[in-house]
Amino acid sequence: MSTDVIEADRGTAVLPARIARFPFPFPADSYRYSTNVEPAANPVQTEAGTWGAGILDIDGLYLEELREREEVLNRDPSRAHVLPHMRFAVWDAIATLLPLLAKEHPESFSFTRHGNACTWRNMLQDLELEFTYGDDATLPKGPLRFLGSQIQDDIVLLDQREDALWLDAGVVTFAADWSLGFDVGMKFLEVHGPVPRVHEEQIVARAQQFLMRLQPGENYRRTNWTMTVDRRLDTSTETYPEWASDRSTVSADPALPERLHLRVEVQHLIRLPHSGAVLFLVRTHLLPLTDIAQVPAWRERLGRVLAELPEDMAEYKGINRYRRAASDWLLAG
Ligand code: HEM
Repeated sequence: MSTDVIEADRGTAVLPARIARFPFPFPADSYRYSTNVEPAANPVQTEAGTWGAGILDIDGLYLEELREREEVLNRDPSRAHVLPHMRFAVWDAIATLLPLLAKEHPESFSFTRHGNACTWRNMLQDLELEFTYGDDATLPKGPLRFLGSQIQDDIVLLDQREDALWLDAGVVTFAADWSLGFDVGMKFLEVHGPVPRVHEEQIVARAQQFLMRLQPGENYRRTNWTMTVDRRLDTSTETYPEWASDRSTVSADPALPERLHLRVEVQHLIRLPHSGAVLFLVRTHLLPLTDIAQVPAWRERLGRVLAELPEDMAEYKGINRYRRAASDWLLAG
């Protein structure tokens, strides 16, 4: 668990942890899609601090975000799906992620297993639970919802068959403008159907080939980004009427620098050892422009990226109506 304030890497400035640990995603002043996949669990130094030393990132928003996931799922159970043939993959994910969570954060979690008898302790939630590996009835609300109540990441599971990957299970409450309910059962290439440029440039086909060759124990990650008005995690298609109109009005709002957030997803790609499924984790970080501007190199870089981004990419990301106002503010600072 991070403390709220940690020393910044450089200089004497002290930056809050939310800035020092933020996965700022831009290595250059312009951004294009690429097959930006790299080995996981390697720390990345940024101008403000560091991120990415581990796979499962737990921060000061842990309880708040998991409470929000629970509320979303109670309102709309369609944010979780398990096609029947994925039951075993979900248990495989449990047997992979709970020990990893305990290993990476031993002060907050512990896991023991003897045969199929498992004991899970979550000190942050004041929870101690005994369950039987493979027996759905022993975990509250079933194994996938339980797993979704323990990590901040959204969880997707892909089955590999017929020389393709299929999005066949998941619990996704913090989607950036897509819908798990709509995508479940689709192939990897179909899931990426709406994304501009990536098909002509063979980016998604090459990513799929890479993922299909992934071996158990090889863990990879990538980042993806967009922007969100206000600190809103749930921007899935299902709640579109609640958030879409803010995208038109925010550019004229004097509170734009506080309201507009850079939204970065740290996505992990993990081959599960027993089921052979690919586990795709999406951990969403939101940081307002006012915080970005506390790091001069980030302020300038994001300003330039937003100014330069081609219109088709800006439109797909849903940022085309305010990205000029955002880059003007950043570059004027
Ligand atoms: C492995 C599991 C993956 C799943 C389940 C997944 C799923 C998705 C989904 C649902 C979207 C939103 C599409 C929409 O608008 O309807 C998306 C966007 C995207 N994905 Fe993936 N993805 C995965 C891996 C990857 C990988 C490895 C790449 C590597 C290049 C990639 C590249 C992209 C890009 C470039 C976008 C557009 C994002 C944006 O501009 O905001 N994805 N993905």
